[in-house]
Amino acid sequence: MSNKMWGGRFATGPDAIMEEINASIGFDYRLAAQDIRGSKAHVAMLAETGIVTPENATAIDKGLDQVLREIESGSFTFSRALEDIHMNVESRLAEIVGPDAGRLHTARSRNDQVALDFRLWIRDTIDQLDVQIRDLQKALVDKALVHAGDVMPGFTHLQSAQPVTFGHHLMAYVEMLARDRGRFADSRRRLNECPLGAAALAGTSFPINRERTSAALGFDRPTANSLDSVSDRDFVLETLSAAAICATHLSRFAEEIVLWATPQFGFVRLSDGFTTGSSIMPQKRNPDAAELVRGKSGRVIGALTGLLIVMKGLPLAYSKDMQEDKEGAFDALHTLSLCLAAMAGMVRDFQPDLKRMKAAAGAGFATATDLADWLVRELGLPFRQAHHVTGSLVKMASDRKVGLEKLSLADMRIVEPRITDAVFGVLGVEKSVKSRKSLGGTAPANVRAQARRWLTRLEKEHRSITGSR
Ligand code: ARG
Repeated sequence: MSNKMWGGRFATGPDAIMEEINASIGFDYRLAAQDIRGSKAHVAMLAETGIVTPENATAIDKGLDQVLREIESGSFTFSRALEDIHMNVESRLAEIVGPDAGRLHTARSRNDQVALDFRLWIRDTIDQLDVQIRDLQKALVDKALVHAGDVMPGFTHLQSAQPVTFGHHLMAYVEMLARDRGRFADSRRRLNECPLGAAALAGTSFPINRERTSAALGFDRPTANSLDSVSDRDFVLETLSAAAICATHLSRFAEEIVLWATPQFGFVRLSDGFTTGSSIMPQKRNPDAAELVRGKSGRVIGALTGLLIVMKGLPLAYSKDMQEDKEGAFDALHTLSLCLAAMAGMVRDFQPDLKRMKAAAGAGFATATDLADWLVRELGLPFRQAHHVTGSLVKMASDRKVGLEKLSLADMRIVEPRITDAVFGVLGVEKSVKSRKSLGGTAPANVRAQARRWLTRLEKEHRSITGSR
């Protein structure tokens, strides 16, 4: 049997392999709600402009509501022979409404239809992701407030560098996630133009009103060029790019959690809810959730790379290659959502071992910079010379296998005779972090103020979202 949607010039149906390679219903059924939303706006506009009668439009609109109900309740039967979500919906609509259902596709093509549906889906998904990223920020800020004054080693090259506070470390991720939200918001702003009405590629001879459908679907304006409208997938690429960067941030954090949870670091204990045991080694508590967040970033980055490669050789306007835009994006954005939820859960649950963190913060001569700064401030040494003096003191302490604070004043004076015992005041890790009051620095007062500012901001955003619903 030839396809009833376009079988006019076809004597037979497709080869079985053709059907398999061609069908997208196995994944684009996810666009059902968006497809029906778009069709309802389209048919309302067709009635307003006199392209279809009000009676036809009402019957189609009601029929579409019924199709959506059937899909949502699970009673709808999807057919692979009907290729994709657009033709599945339309075919069922014809069963419900009769031949007049065929008027819905006036002045429209699946090319502008799929461009519209996918934009709507991406836009909805960005809105959901924003809520989840904000929730992870909230979990981090809450923890940061509690631990604004608790010291841990700060690292460069994964070598103890200078003490920082645990709260400060967590707040770094709050900033990264804020940029992620900004990138998703940018993508949303740019994608918010309506391609409906571009039809197959050249526009239509029917007197449609694109401003109407655009406004009805919450877009800022219709897209300006019909060829671009049906061939553009920048909105998917930009969103995947934001997702890939966000997944990379989560992966870096996950790596830190994996390290912190080792007995060697022992900085945090993950909850039972986010760890697994080993079937052979009873002592193990494996940070699987963190490892998976780290690993799953690969799929998200892969989806971006994959779509860039799909798009790179395509001439204008629509080509069926573009059907390959969906599976990767569905998978990547779902994966990111899962990773965000897992991270928020881990952060809310994990218990830092503050004693171990503090002990580690003092190891590795982490207050050497504080000593050098003291020599500059109190003795007026040029920083380079202070660095040199401190280096000699570190060597002395290292040779004796003690911390800097354990050297005697007499020993220190062998290296620099003007040192006084006031120097011991800066050698503690707590003093060290307290002194770093420069803007954005790790001083507990800074961290607390920054966390409070974020808390106010996040709560305000939460109210404005829930209030507007
Ligand atoms: N399933 C198709 C896709 O996802 C819909 C558009 C098909 N257009 C066409 N001219 N065959 O890209």
